[in-house]
This record gives sequence, C-alpha cells and structure tokens, in this order.
Amino acid sequence: MRQFGGSWSESKLNCVENYALAYLQVMQKQHWYILHYVDAFAGRGKQVLKSSTPSSAERLELESFFGDYSERADTETFLVGSSLRALSASRSSARPFAHFTLIEADKSSCDELEAVIQSEFPDMKDKVDVICKDANVALNEYIDLVDWTRTRAIVFLDPYGLEVRWETVVRLATTGACDVWYLFPLGGVIRMMTNDGRIPERWQVRLDQLFGTHE
Ligand SMILES: C[S@@+](CC[C@H](N)C(=O)[O-])C[C@H]1O[C@@H](n2cnc3c(N)ncnc32)[C@H](O)[C@@H]1O
Repeated sequence: MRQFGGSWSESKLNCVENYALAYLQVMQKQHWYILHYVDAFAGRGKQVLKSSTPSSAERLELESFFGDYSERADTETFLVGSSLRALSASRSSARPFAHFTLIEADKSSCDELEAVIQSEFPDMKDKVDVICKDANVALNEYIDLVDWTRTRAIVFLDPYGLEVRWETVVRLATTGACDVWYLFPLGGVIRMMTNDGRIPERWQVRLDQLFGTHE
C-alpha cells in the first residue's frame, strides 16, 4: 500500500497535521493547559483504494469524498484521515494531546474508526472518545463539559456540505480557547445560490443555519 500524493485533499490534511505538530511544539512549556484535539467530521480513519481503475460509480464516490480524483488513480493507495494524523502527531510529540474527541455521524464509519485506533494506536485508545452523533449536537455537549480556563483545543471541521450551524461556530468562539480549522463548503453554497435569486425554501433554511442570518 502507499499513500495518495499530490491531491488537494492530502495538502489539506498535511496542513492540519503540520499545524497540530506546531501547536504541540508551541504548547510545550505551557503545562498549565490540558490539550485536546477535536475532529467533528472524523470519517472512518482511512480510505483504501483497491484498484487503479475504479468503476464510474466508485469514481463518483471518491470524488465526493476527496475532490478531483483524476491525478491519483494508482494501485493499492490509501489516504490517512485527519484523526489518525492527529493521533500520530501527538504520539511523536514531547507534549501530546491529553484527549481526542472524534465525532462522526455515520455508524459504520465510527466502527471502522474505532477498529483502526484499536489496531494502530492501542497505547492511546484510552485517551480517545469516538462519538457517533451529529457534529453540532456533540460539539455543544463537549463545550459544556470542558473547563475552558484550563483547556486548549484544536477543533477541525471538515464537513461534506452545509452541516455546520453558525451557532456552533459562535459557541466555539465563546470558549476563547479553541483553534478552529473550518473547511467552508463554498461549492455547496454556490450551488444553492441560484442565478435567478429564487432559492427554494428548504435551501434557504440550510443557508440561514450555515450563515446564522437570513441577510
Ligand atoms: C469530508 S468527510 C471527513 C473526512 C475526515 N476529515 C478525514 O480526514 O478522513 C465528512 C464526514 O462527515 C460525516 N458527517 C456527515 N454529516 C455529519 C454530521 N452532521 N455530523 C457529524 N459527521 C457528519 C460523514 O459521514 C463523513 O465521514
């Protein structure tokens, strides 16, 4: 097996991983803070590609997950996802994260994620909560539980579409303690902003939830 190369998905994941490493480095001497990593759209851990010539259906699915697939067709490739990257960044750091909150709405993805953590990070599994819920609900519960005077967190928001509600972003901001990476779903927003200005009611509701305003 080998990892993907050259895709924007991999660049995005490298950015988050390098940020986590730099963050842990910066926090090395700030021992009064407990450090958390939160992945609110954690995925399944990693995505394996079995064939160099995916069917058109497989290709569509891959494109919806990773963006443009065309550069990356290869044999036995896989992309290591954000949560596993955070775990390995932490493992290699002198100042590791104390806790990982990995949120994922899809049950089978949660099960796969738990299995890969169990097999590849058995030494760290006691520090990891995999929460199978909607990200907005789980993030609000997480924010309520944490003592933000003593905790600092990286929060990674990597939705497919318009799942993140603005009120969740506001709640994260009010902690005053979270470094938030939000991959904003611009493509989805543009698709909903119809040229004639007549946006279906259902889409309006989604856009209002995303922006936190009807304006
Ligand atoms: C773009 S993928 C995340 C990829 C992940 N960051 C990685 O590196 O592997 C988006 C994920 O969000 C999950 N998802 C979709 N809606 C969700 C929601 N409302 N709350 C939490 N997770 C959700 C999907 O099942 C999918 O696994």
